Amino acid sequence: MDTKLRYILNTFISAYNKLDKDIVIHCKEVAFLTLSICDALSLDKDTKKDLIVSAYLHDISASKTNFLDTLRKFDTVEYHEHCLYGYVFFDTLVPSNTFCKYILYHHEPYNSNNVVNNMEIPLESNILKLADDISIFKLLNNNIAIDKIREFLNSRKNLYNPIYLNALLSPKGSEALKKLLDNSYLETLDNYGDEISVRNIDFIKFVEAMAFILDFKCEITNIHSQTVSLFSVLLAKEFNLPDIFEIRIGSLLHDIGKMGVPDSILKKPSYLTPEEFDIMKKHVEYTYEILSNLKNEKIVKIASNHHEKLNGKGYPRGISDLSFSEKLVAVADIFAALIQKRSYKNQYSKEKTIEILLNCVHNDEIDSTIVNKIIENYDYFIDMNLKLNEEFHNKLNLLKNKYELLFSSL
Ligand SMILES: [Fe+2]
Ligand SMILES: [Fe+2]
Ligand SMILES: [Fe+2]
Ligand SMILES: [Fe+2]
Repeated sequence: MDTKLRYILNTFISAYNKLDKDIVIHCKEVAFLTLSICDALSLDKDTKKDLIVSAYLHDISASKTNFLDTLRKFDTVEYHEHCLYGYVFFDTLVPSNTFCKYILYHHEPYNSNNVVNNMEIPLESNILKLADDISIFKLLNNNIAIDKIREFLNSRKNLYNPIYLNALLSPKGSEALKKLLDNSYLETLDNYGDEISVRNIDFIKFVEAMAFILDFKCEITNIHSQTVSLFSVLLAKEFNLPDIFEIRIGSLLHDIGKMGVPDSILKKPSYLTPEEFDIMKKHVEYTYEILSNLKNEKIVKIASNHHEKLNGKGYPRGISDLSFSEKLVAVADIFAALIQKRSYKNQYSKEKTIEILLNCVHNDEIDSTIVNKIIENYDYFIDMNLKLNEEFHNKLNLLKNKYELLFSSL
């Protein structure tokens, strides 16, 4: 079973749209203009695909809120940081990808010598620069006419490769600009995205990267998504469940909706007030909304039902009719929270953790067979989690070191 690339990219950008409401539109506009230039120049299909993927994901640094205000600026040196961050993020978390080199240079003017750490500037990264500038110009000016865009581009034409600029100013390019302005471009973009499928193995790499965005946003819940996923997969294997793939994806992204919860609540170092807790609870609805883009009902349900209880007293819907996989991820979520340190509590001992889990079973909140499996395999699960912790921190350090190395080479 392959997944359409477009579903994954849309999920990604709708997750960070929770931080900046213009991100989805901006990324899709950049992707569409990039696609139009590639088509006008008949670029080969692999380069085209890499450019479209990087167009969707080029502003991933939006997940770091201190970069947010650089996204609306052009021609400032501040952009370097977010380009480097985007590059390092995907270079580390989606290994062997061929698209992140374009993200690194997506603001670089034509003929630039701003080479980072001896990494060649790919010619085509200037397509992203051109597309990005148009989208930002449109964002900053309401109801812009096509002539204004042409004027804007002509006034700064030395920044763009003339081949790409001419492609956009040609009759075919003008058609694309018209589609951009009347919003009919989405159909063209979706049609392209429908043609491209992603193998499950690559899908998982993207999803792991996506889970990292959340785990980076909130250091307190750091690694939580990965731990829930580890326990869910281990349990699914114990029970020989046929839908391990969906469980893995759904558990990795179960809390992705927390992207929409303000940092002041997410990182609060004490218990939440009832009002704050109501806002926190909204994360499951956001998870549902973001993951709906994946068009996979099973994954969406596994992810967004993780706070439902067997007795119907959970949230958001208070349903009790849950599949075994949904029940399993709900238990893995509680188990992970108990053994992890949180802003308002320390990690619990084995005895205390088991006592709380059994108490939840007693209250008819969670499934007893799943809890028994945890008790049976407790030490093994904790061991596996220690290994995961080590891997996670190694990856994090790799990412930080790469970023610092590149930054110091500027
Ligand atoms: Fe950018
Ligand atoms: Fe951008
Ligand atoms: Fe949650
Ligand atoms: Fe969770």
